[in-house]
Amino acid sequence: MNETNNKFATQMAVAADQKNVWHHLSDHAPYQTAAPMMLVKGEGMRVEDANGKQYLDAASGGLWTVNVGYGRESIAKAVYEQLVQMNFYSQTAGNIPAAQFAEKLLEKMPGMSRVYYSNSGSEANEKAYKIVRQIAAKKYDGKKHKILFRERDYHGTTITALSSTGQFERKNQYGPFTPGFVEFPHCLQYRSQWGDVSDYGVRAAKEMERVILEQGPDTVGGVVLEPITAGGGVITPPEGYWETIQEICKKYDILLHIDEVVCGLGRTGEWFGYQNYGVKPDIVTMAKGVASGYAAISCTVTTEPIFDLFKDESDPRMGYFRDVSTFGGCTAGPAAALENMRIIEDENLLQNVRTQGEYLRSGLTKLMEKHSMIGDVRGMGLFQGLELVKDRGTKEPVDETVLMAIAAHCQNESGVIIGRTNRSFREFNNTIALSPALIATSDDIDLIVNALDKAIAAQTH
Ligand SMILES: Cc1ncc(COP(=O)(O)O)c(C=O)c1O
Repeated sequence: MNETNNKFATQMAVAADQKNVWHHLSDHAPYQTAAPMMLVKGEGMRVEDANGKQYLDAASGGLWTVNVGYGRESIAKAVYEQLVQMNFYSQTAGNIPAAQFAEKLLEKMPGMSRVYYSNSGSEANEKAYKIVRQIAAKKYDGKKHKILFRERDYHGTTITALSSTGQFERKNQYGPFTPGFVEFPHCLQYRSQWGDVSDYGVRAAKEMERVILEQGPDTVGGVVLEPITAGGGVITPPEGYWETIQEICKKYDILLHIDEVVCGLGRTGEWFGYQNYGVKPDIVTMAKGVASGYAAISCTVTTEPIFDLFKDESDPRMGYFRDVSTFGGCTAGPAAALENMRIIEDENLLQNVRTQGEYLRSGLTKLMEKHSMIGDVRGMGLFQGLELVKDRGTKEPVDETVLMAIAAHCQNESGVIIGRTNRSFREFNNTIALSPALIATSDDIDLIVNALDKAIAAQTH
């Protein structure tokens, strides 16, 4: 196709998109007069829109996904070669990349031993909930079926994943929800429920214990937690938090399910977020960065003792895990995931995340000295957030429209795409989220920090 034809085809696609596609998490009113952005090319950290404008993507595909960056030919080739060889068969049978990726993945997850494939983060979490529920049925006469979740965490888009999500606006109008999911309070020290206390982490974790005791420990089978809350405002757990959570889970025989959909595969500088805290989970779920968006794949990973419970010879009809995910049998996912993991290892990206993450953090801390609108900076590795307030003393959050204006300024004036809390809460949609690809250089970080500097200044002058 020559360049004129190419441009024409792109314009037609923009018009078809505007007319026919229902975009995610989007208010379509403005799209009646202006087409939504369409991206036509990606290379490294950068994407290009249909008008030829380039952007530095500090949000890894808008949803912390493209961990190894855009335009990776080696992943595309691995997927192509696998697809022409064998594209799909139900996971009732094995396939080579799924077997190979499971082995490699488990090497990075000491203590974990089985990988169950599906195709989205929500679905991986649903599998975990079904595992907890079936264990309750097998071992506890169905009584220990409740699953706890934390205020501000997000676990997915399906009704049951939303039922376990602690975000009011994400859930609003989508009820009634699945019964048996119970919320406990957040662990955001900046908004401490007890003022300035020295043992905030332990107190916040004990809120989980309080809810367990209220519900009755013999009714609670599992708890699902993000290692660091992502879309709920980049909330790093306070000191002492994870140790106490682990102790409480042991004390009441409650399975610990960690949702690594965002933190998994290197985002925090370790393979998995929980590995920063020495936690020993029973179930780990992951999606997004597993194949960096080159193919859809998610995994629900369990320990061997959990898997063993489903090898139940006493009940051949109902004893095993009677679940299936059609697209869990696509081979493109594990083929892409294997190559994605090779890239992270060979390019030493975990180290890059630690180095550039510190550099990003120091840039953001300097911005905080300059702009009183920044109330808090938090995060780990290439996963950082800025909580914006009207007044540092009262910590009153800025309105979501301020973040929308900052994001628009970064994008339009500096060509930098950033993330932000988006219609998740009644009042706390006030955190900017940065999650550049794990390949970010210090020049990229400088561009991101400078863009934010100018955008925040534009809001305050
Ligand atoms: C922590 C977390 N868990 C689960 C999900 C759901 O993943 P998916 O959109 O692939 O269903 C998300 C998506 O943003 C997430 O951030």
